[in-house]
This record gives sequence, structure tokens and C-alpha cells, in this order.
Amino acid sequence: MNKALLEVRDLSAGYITRKGYVPALRGVGLTINEGERVAVVGESGSGKSTLAAIMTRLEPRNLVIESGEVLYKGMNLLRMNGKELRRLRGREIAVVFQNPSESLNPLLRVGDQVVEALRLDGLRGREAKARALDLLRRVRLPDPERIYRSYPHELSGGQKQRVAIAIAIARSPKLLVADEPTTALDVSVQAKILDLLIRLNEEEGTTEVLITHDIGVAYDFAHRIIVMYAGRVVEEGPAEEVIREPLHPYTKHLIKSLPKAGELPSVEERALTAVAAKGCPYAPRCPAAIKGVCDAADPQPIKVGERVVACHAVARDFLG
Ligand SMILES: Nc1ncnc2c1ncn2[C@@H]1O[C@H](COP(=O)(O)OP(=O)(O)OP(=O)(O)O)[C@@H](O)[C@H]1O
Ligand SMILES: [Mg+2]
Repeated sequence: MNKALLEVRDLSAGYITRKGYVPALRGVGLTINEGERVAVVGESGSGKSTLAAIMTRLEPRNLVIESGEVLYKGMNLLRMNGKELRRLRGREIAVVFQNPSESLNPLLRVGDQVVEALRLDGLRGREAKARALDLLRRVRLPDPERIYRSYPHELSGGQKQRVAIAIAIARSPKLLVADEPTTALDVSVQAKILDLLIRLNEEEGTTEVLITHDIGVAYDFAHRIIVMYAGRVVEEGPAEEVIREPLHPYTKHLIKSLPKAGELPSVEERALTAVAAKGCPYAPRCPAAIKGVCDAADPQPIKVGERVVACHAVARDFLG
């Protein structure tokens, strides 16, 4: 029943900066199945946005892909040229960014921006307007006629993000990648936007990848959770299992440090991560680290039931 829509294989990438090369992803492998809601969770700098950018081929110019494949319906996105990618974008793969103000044109009325997306499918005039209004309604914006005529600055943050989602889904993409779509919004609005994404998935079958630093949000949203640390996937599995019975020490830590309502995680939690470190990058912080093992070699992912975990200590427990 699980049919892979997007597969990332052994993906390593980094950035060229003035201070030198900054590795960002190390041997990332994952599968996104058709119709699924997947959350990618990890702390700041773990490589989530880099992964999202490569999945949608919207990576910054200074990014270097060292190795790997990104297969969408079996086609390697990394081998596609600009024209081929433009054909996929919007119609097959769409993106929602953290800051809706950045994805909307401040000079254009909201309605015109939605219509612009629809034009790519050949819709014009009254037909395009009707469909745009329908989209604004589908993202649960109140008074779509008014919103249609508004400029982005006349809308609240939550409304703008709804418009950005309306534009993203305008051409009925199969895959929607949302990179921290609620982080810039008020807490009260965040849950509503997540609800909207969940309903889109349930009603239209859109496959969704949500990038978040908040494992609580990941749990509320996803069927499956992928945990990243220092540019690697450290644990992956059904959301229930990952939360109820985390296997990787880093996942355990994330769940233990889940903030109580209204509390923000402390800055110390966001310790600098070492993507290029020898051995397991989590070893220096890990309570379960095995001396001479974890600091010596990168742990290889192993399958534990429906879970995939990359941890020497877990491997020892399960494989003996
Ligand atoms: N455009 C860029 N140029 C240079 N380095 C970058 C760029 N974007 C990200 N990096 C670096 O790549 C690494 C991974 O960053 P990335 O933005 O993918 O992490 P993230 O998990 O999305 O973090 P956050 O939660 O802060 O958004 C970090 O070391 C970061 O500093
Ligand atoms: Mg990011």
C-alpha cells in the first residue's frame, strides 16, 4: 500500500561560504510515501531547511550537492534541468515558507497573485477568478471577496500564510513541503494553520512534509516523524512509536525537553552541532555514548520494527 512518492538516497551537501566549506547534510536517506504526512524535526542547524530546499530544488546558489539522489516518482530531481524542474514545480511539488511576507508580492493584490498561479494551467478571466475565490475559501479565509481585493500588508500573518498556502495548492500539487510554516505566527494561529494542512491532506490526499524544530508540533501533525541531528537522520518511524517509545538518545532528549505550554526551549539546548565530526555527532552530548565506539565511527541506520535508527547503543541492544 505504501507507494514512495519521494525518495532521498545517501544525500550529502554543504555550503561554500567565505569562511570555507560548511557541511550541512551527511548521507541522508528517507522515503515519503504517497498520501502521507511526514514531519522532519531537529534543532537549529540540523539541516532541515537544506533538505527541504533540495527536495524542492530551490537550494541557495552556494549549496554544493556532494552525492546522492532525490527521486520523485522515480525521476532524479538532481539530474533535471531548469525547464524540467519548472514543469514539476507548482503542479507536482509546491512549497510553503516560514515567512509568508517573503513568498507574497507586496505590490500585487492577493487575488491577482492566486490568479497568476492559475494562469500556468491556462485559466483566464472569470474562470480564474472563480477558482481563486474557491481556493481562498478552501484555506478557510473569511470573506474571500475582500481578501481577493486586498494587498498582503492589509492581512494578518495567519491570513497571509493561508494565502501562501492557497497559492501553493492552486495547481493541485501532489507534494507540499512546508518549512516551519507556523514559526513566524502567533501561537494561537499556529494550530489553525497546522489544522488546515492536515485537512488538505485528508480531503485532497496531498502528500505533506512539514519541517519543524518542535517535536510536539511534529506529533500533532504527522503520521511519520523523521528526526535529524547534525545533518543526519538519527531516527525515523510512525509518530506514535517515536514519541511513546523513542529509541535514539537524541529523540529521548527532545521528548524530555518538550516545553510545557508557553515555555520556550532554552538557548543552551541549541548547542552547536558538528556535522563533520568523526563518529556519531551526538556522542559528545549523549548519555548512552559508548567510549571508543560512538566517537570512532558513524553509526549505520538499522531497522527496528517500523523504525530506522542510527545509534551504536541501540544497535548493540537489538543486534547484540
Ligand atoms: N545559505 C547558506 N549559506 C551558508 N550556510 C548555510 C546556508 N543555509 C544554511 N547553512 C548552514 O547549513 C547548516 C544547516 O542549516 P539549515 O538551515 O539547513 O538548518 P535548519 O535545521 O533548517 O535550522 P533552523 O531550525 O535554524 O532553520 C547550518 O550549519 C547552517 O549554518
Ligand atoms: Mg530552517
